[in-house]
Amino acid sequence: MTGDIAAFAPGRVNLIGEHTDYAGGLSLPMAIHLGTTVTGVRGGDRIRLTSAQQDEAVDLPLTIDDPTTVEPAWGRYVAGVVAELSPTTGFVGEVSSTVPLGAGLSSSASLELAVALALGFHGMPRSLAELGQRAEQVASGVPCGLMDQLASACGTAGHALLVDFTTDEVRPVPVPADLEVVVVHSGQERRLAGSAYAERRASVEAAAAEIGALHDADLADVDRLTDPVLRRRARHVISEDARVRAFTTALAADDRPRLGELLLASHASLRDDFDVSTEVLDALVARLCAIPGVWGARLTGAGFGGCVVALTEPGTLGEGWVVRPGPGAFVSSS
Ligand code: GLA
Repeated sequence: MTGDIAAFAPGRVNLIGEHTDYAGGLSLPMAIHLGTTVTGVRGGDRIRLTSAQQDEAVDLPLTIDDPTTVEPAWGRYVAGVVAELSPTTGFVGEVSSTVPLGAGLSSSASLELAVALALGFHGMPRSLAELGQRAEQVASGVPCGLMDQLASACGTAGHALLVDFTTDEVRPVPVPADLEVVVVHSGQERRLAGSAYAERRASVEAAAAEIGALHDADLADVDRLTDPVLRRRARHVISEDARVRAFTTALAADDRPRLGELLLASHASLRDDFDVSTEVLDALVARLCAIPGVWGARLTGAGFGGCVVALTEPGTLGEGWVVRPGPGAFVSSS
């Protein structure tokens, strides 16, 4: 056995730039102060993890053929990491998370990255994120993009991250300290999210096959698409990229009315062109936006239920989770 290991990886909230990561577009996620911690010792030839949040422990060999059959189900994300990392020694320890589970704050990405660091991953934050993404894809069967894991790996305290998924550039953008970011759960489980997500991703890829990469296309190119559904999907991605740029400028100027307008425009595009909102999410956004001190709100994450993110004056909402921009994943040993 070697010394004690403590690895931490944060969850994330996406401020704007939704369903753009797998299109090579722009996003502005923020690593949050809530995250997953894995503590324990390396050694032996099994991965044994208890969890402060789950009843059943995970007990895995170092070689895993099919992470999707692992029980208990939370162990599939651990198994995905083990399958991708191929660690040479085992680990015995505990997982503890402050990220609300299944709420759209990327609790699974934070688990994957914390486990990878605890099991001995060495490398750049981007490689850590890519390993986590592959683990997520094999564990969940959902062809997710890189945003969640990249935000968790690259987080910077006090900053959101402007990510360009074509050039791989990640630029920290300061978030005003007195601008509150609040995440409110709609109460609606994200049912069918996996298959609908895969279908949206396939539509975006089909549109790009016809008019070229969407990050290089403009709205005139969209008119060349023959299928009306693909036209709407592509229009969302292209207009969302423009909103991410405008939002980044408004954040630097601390122009809160403009930030609010852009959140609402993003929500409308996700609702009308990308078809990933629900009546429950729409009603929640409308209710929050009617409260004095709320600048704007939109669905955040994949959609089909889950959470809304709102920007507010401090102390405005007596509901949801107030999240602060925090540091990215790290590991320490003693
Ligand atoms: C999920 C995926 C991300 C991203 C968002 C939508 O969170 O894991 O890769 O595609 O949906 O923006």
